Formats: sequence, C-alpha cells, structure tokens
Amino acid sequence: MDYRRIVILTGAGVSAESGVDTFRDKNGLWSKIDYRDVATPEGFAANPALVHDFYNMRRRRIAELEPNDAHRALARLEREFSGEVLLVTQNIDDLHERAGSKNLIHMHGEHRSALCTHCGDRSPWEGDMSLETPCPACATVGHLRPDVVWFGEMPYQMERIYDALRAADLFISIGTSGNVYPAAQFVQEAGRAGAHTIELNLEPSDTFDDFDEAVHGPASRVVPSYVDMLLKS
Ligand code: NAD
Ligand code: APR
Repeated sequence: MDYRRIVILTGAGVSAESGVDTFRDKNGLWSKIDYRDVATPEGFAANPALVHDFYNMRRRRIAELEPNDAHRALARLEREFSGEVLLVTQNIDDLHERAGSKNLIHMHGEHRSALCTHCGDRSPWEGDMSLETPCPACATVGHLRPDVVWFGEMPYQMERIYDALRAADLFISIGTSGNVYPAAQFVQEAGRAGAHTIELNLEPSDTFDDFDEAVHGPASRVVPSYVDMLLKS
C-alpha cells in the first residue's frame, strides 16, 4: 500500500523508555498521586502550590532525559517519507522536538510553556514556576499556571487534528492506553475516513479492537522497525 498522508498519535508509552513516567501502568503517576489534585482546574484552584510543585518536578525530570529510538524513528519518518506526516502527541514532554520532529501538535499542552490566566498570554518556560512568578507579558503576579490541558478542559488544535484524521490514509497509535477522550476516539475517526489503522503498544490498549492491526512490544523496538518497513515500501 502506497500511503500519502500519515497521522500518528503518541501517548506516555513512547517516552517510557526515556524515563518519563506513564500514567496508568503499574507504578504509573496516577497510582502515586490523585490526578484530581494535580490535573484538574479544581485541583489547581484548591492548592496551586502543589500543582506548581508537581509540574516543576516533572519539568526538571524531563530536562535530564533524552529521546529514545522511537522518537528518533518518528523524526526520520517525517524527514524521509515522500507524503505528509502529522504527529499528534498527548505528552507534555519535548522529546519529539528534541529528536527532530517538526510537524507536531501537543494536544495536552507542553511542560515548557506557561499560561497566564489574567492576560491569556502563553510564553516559553524553563525552570520552576509559582504563583509568585510574574507573567512575562502583563507582569501581574498570581496568575501563572502550567500550559497543560487538565481533565475537564478542551485539548488544543482539535479542528486541525480532526481535519487531518479525515484526510489520513494511515493512522498509527503509539504508547497510549486509549483511556482518555477525545484521543481514544481518533482511531475510529480515521477508520471511518478509510485510513488503515495500526496500534504499536507494549500491550493491547483499551481500544485495541478498533484497530485493523497491532504490533505489541516496546516502542524503541517496534516503532523503528515499522518506520523502516514504511520507508522501504
Ligand atoms: P476524560 O473524560 O478524557 O478522561 C477522564 C479520565 O480520567 C478517565 O478516562 C480516566 O482515564 C481518568 N481517570 C478517572 N479516574 C481516574 C483515576 N482514579 N486515576 C487516574 N485517572 C483517572 O477527561 P476530560 O475531562 O475529558 O479530559 C479532557 C482532556 O484533558 C483529555 O484529552 C485529557 O486527556 C486531558 N488531560 C490532560 C492531562 C495532562 O496532565 N496533560 C491530565 C488530564 C487530562
Ligand atoms: N513501549 C510502548 N508502549 C508502552 C511502553 C513502551 N516501552 N510502556 C508503556 N507503554 C504503554 C502502556 O501499555 C499503556 O498502554 O503506554 C500506555 C500508557 O498509557 P497511559 O499511562 O494511560 O498514558 P496515556 O495513554 O498517554 O494517557 C493519556 O491521560 O492523564 C492523561 O493527559 C494525560 O496525556 C495523558 C492521557
């Protein structure tokens, strides 16, 4: 099959072998901390310092890590594939960018971005953030939050993502449990549009039955071999 338009969805599993915690695996993040405390607007309103500490810790941790062979294979696919490749990630880490991916959407936001709830400005962010940090744009204090999409909030660039899914002829889902919507429904959207759909995951996800095919194993092994096959075909 000669594909022309590929949409790829990644989740925490693509970064697991780089050392980034997943959410719902054994010992996943949500087994250590209640997601309602750090990944909901209510949690932030109740205890902003706890939420800032959680994301500051994740930002520091991710800064020490490196992309793995799965991230590098996806960047190579974008460089060498003759058609279009759009990479949509649920991850807030920057490992795809650091591996070289450019045509990329962070649908759940990014740990390297700050959002001011007073002026709406989004600014690139390094280092720790707290309510005492002034907004780089409006200079007010007490309004800066991580630019991350929490439960109950709308993911980013959904129109662009659905347009791409409806035009895709290949949809690849990598390292996501298929637990959280709307990302968990992308496979059905792409399938309805006639795309071939494949899951590359450590084990069958909750949406495994929605895929035309699957290859199960660690992303750093199964993603490079699948990309090799795509580039050779
Ligand atoms: P949703 O309905 O998409 O997901 C609710 C999810 O919460 C459930 O599917 C389950 O996966 C999770 N959940 C429920 N109970 C849980 C528990 N005890 N421990 C861990 N997880 C539990 O949520 P939503 O409100 O529609 O989210 C909107 C968007 O925000 C989604 O795309 C979601 O992925 C995103 N989001 C991002 C982050 C982040 O840290 N980037 C965190 C949460 C949600
Ligand atoms: N290689 C491939 N897949 C892996 C690997 C690996 N080395 N390690 C784990 N996985 C798979 C797991 O089998 C699981 O299916 O990655 C998936 C991780 O699932 P989750 O922890 O639920 O992460 P994710 O699907 O990205 O969560 C979606 O939920 O909390 C929100 O916004 C948050 O973006 C996150 C969203």
